[in-house]
This record gives sequence, C-alpha cells and structure tokens, in this order.
Amino acid sequence: MPWPYRLQCFECHTQYPIRTANCRCEKCGGLLEIVFQISKRRIPWKKRDPSVWRYRELIPIDNDRFITTLAEGATGLHQCQRLGREIGLKRLYVKNEGENPTGSFKDRGMTVALSKARELGKRRVVCASTGNTAASLSAYSARAGLTCVVIVPEGKVAAGKMLQVMIHGARIFQVSGDFDEAMRVVVALTEQRTGFYLMNSINPFRLEGQKTLAYEVCDQLGNQLPDAVVLPVGNGGNISAIWKGFGEFQTLGIAKVRPRMIGVQAERAAPIANAVKRKQSKIRPVTNPQTIASAIRIGSPVNWTKVLPAIRESGGTAETVSDKEILEAQRDLASKEGIFVEPASAASIAGLRKCREEGRIDRTDLVVCVTTGHGLKDPSIADHIPHRESYTLKITRPDWIERLERAL
Ligand code: F0G
Repeated sequence: MPWPYRLQCFECHTQYPIRTANCRCEKCGGLLEIVFQISKRRIPWKKRDPSVWRYRELIPIDNDRFITTLAEGATGLHQCQRLGREIGLKRLYVKNEGENPTGSFKDRGMTVALSKARELGKRRVVCASTGNTAASLSAYSARAGLTCVVIVPEGKVAAGKMLQVMIHGARIFQVSGDFDEAMRVVVALTEQRTGFYLMNSINPFRLEGQKTLAYEVCDQLGNQLPDAVVLPVGNGGNISAIWKGFGEFQTLGIAKVRPRMIGVQAERAAPIANAVKRKQSKIRPVTNPQTIASAIRIGSPVNWTKVLPAIRESGGTAETVSDKEILEAQRDLASKEGIFVEPASAASIAGLRKCREEGRIDRTDLVVCVTTGHGLKDPSIADHIPHRESYTLKITRPDWIERLERAL
C-alpha cells in the first residue's frame, strides 16, 4: 500500500479527487502533481530487489491487483573513466535508461500510469509522441489488454520506435506537423469525453514512476550523492520528476542535499534552455523545431512550468548543443565506454562536455549523465558514422592472416 498522497495543482495547490481524469487545474490551468505525506519512518524497501516497484510506498497505486509491469528500472549506473578523463572529470557516471524493457526511461512512468489507468477503470489510452512514449505505451497496453492509440508527427519518428508500436499492435495516427501538433490533437481528443485516458507526461502519475530514477541513483551511489545530474530535455517531464524524487529522499533524510539539475536541449529546439540562459520566467515556444535528435524535437514543452523552478531551485542550468556535437558524443560513448544510446540521450554527454569547458562543472564534481534511450531505436544515424573500409576474407588464400593484421 502507498503512503497517504493527494492530487493537487502545482501552481495554486487546489486539491482534486484522485479519480479526476484531467491533467490540468480547473481553476488556474496549472499542471497537477502528486504530493506524498512523507514521514521519517523506517525505510521498508532496503531488502527488496531494485526496480520501480521497490519503492512501493511512494508509488500512488492503491491496489496491487492493477499493477502492470515488465520489470522496469534497476538500470545500470556505469562509471565512465575513459570518457571522464577525456572530458576532465574524476567521477562520471552514466545512468543508462536504455536498459529498460522497451529501451527507454518512459517505462518507469508507464508501468505506474498504466496501472493507474486500470485502477481508474479506463479501457482506452492515448499519447502524442516523438516515438519512445508511443513504444512504451504500446507495450504496456498490449500486456494489459487496453486499446492504445498513438499520435505521431508524420515521417519524424525513428524506425525502431515505429517498429515497436507496430509489433505491439497499437493504432497509429500521424499528423502532418511536429510533436506539438500531435500533442494538441491528444489534448483535444481527451477533452471530448471519448473515454481516452491521456498518457503523456502531463499525466502526474507517469512522473511518479519516473521519479524513481533519483531514488535509484541515491541507492546505487551508497552514501554519496551526485553534485550534478545532466539529462536531455524535451517536454521537461523527466527532469521535473527526477527533481521531485531527490526532494522526497531529502525529506526522508536519505539525501542530505539535492544535486544541480542540468537540462540539455538541441540548439534549434531549445525553448527551455533559451529561457534559462536569458533568465526569463516564461518560455517562448520555438516554431518548427529541428534536430537530428528526433526524440527531443519539441518546440512547445508541456511541462515547462515545472522545469524552470526545478533548474532554478537546484542551482542548475541549461545548455544547448548542435547536431554535430550530439553525434560526436554518441560515438564517444559507444566507442570509449561500450554504451550505445540514441542521439537525444547523447545530448546529455555533449551538454556535459560544454558545461565542463565553460567551468560550470568542476573536475572533482560527481556527475551523473542520464542516457534516456537505446541506440538501436534510431538506425538512421548509420549515415553519419565515418566510413570505415570493410574487407573480404578468403580463407583459401595463404596470406589471409597477414591481410587481416595489416587492416588493423
Ligand atoms: N530522451 C528521449 C530518448 C526521449 O524519448 C525524450 C522524450 C526525452 C529525452 C525528453 O524527455 O520530454 O521528459 O523532457 N520523448 C517523448 C516521447 C517526447 O514522445 O517519446 P522529457
């Protein structure tokens, strides 16, 4: 059973019944959030296996009967010494979310939101997506036997993600436009009392799953905490969720201080990073956002009102990176550390490199970079890998071993 929790507006704190299907405050239009009543009682999960559900008391699902899971979380926190040395960092860790069941961090949120959908008696779920949310929702809906509709920007979703949606049997609708257009369609659809339950990250239950990344990092680092967490930002759900997670562990007395949150966006899709850099209290949406990192090709991030305070309160910052820097970081991580991530995820490494160069991160800082999705999802980047000659071997030729050696 979870500890007591309530659903309330993030801005004006108006409370709503848990069964409310809306994702926004009826009074002020603010985003909703879950607030747990946390008291420093004995932590019950120490002996449980690592997973999202390890932290059961802090997950707002009332009845275990509705839990739909594929074993999410428990992803590796990999110390990266070679890359760290090159970037000029003594302690660099990569939290590799590509190790989740459908290959992205979305699964942490989806296991919780889908379980909530079932608990609320929903039979139809819908999301707008640049690909990973759609892949994750499709898998969890298949497992639970719910009708799943995904709305995606036409021609803008990586092939691996489309394949996932198709094989899991979701209904795909494409909009001619970008993610922001798809999001508008989903919001309009769910407002029309069609019985569709919205599964994007403005659904506060999703973020309750995603916050467990912070718990896991605390647990994996033992008594230490990172000085900074660096991650890619699209809609801003993940960075806000992780910030919330660290806050809850602080209230519990497990974390003494919270890390600086550093959000990274692609140069031409950077409404949040632009607002942070210009010290503005509101974002200005980007029309026609562009980047090779299709997962974060978002001009009008729906969670911006949660992101800006998270970055500000944490003493963090935001960074922008070019497509070239993203691709280089992707290759660096793969070729120097054996970790293959999709371009959006590599943005965190590219952003870290820049922060380090600009002195915004110290050599001695303990840094965790969150890589959000698996590299196999987006095979299109093969075109950008510098060409390496491939050789044909003929074992019948006497000099075949010499030829092989010469090619190394
Ligand atoms: N990294 C990856 C691989 C993503 O797929 C996303 C978001 C993000 C980072 C950004 O996370 O939105 O919480 O700030 N993908 C969404 C989707 C938009 O539809 O799959 P965020």
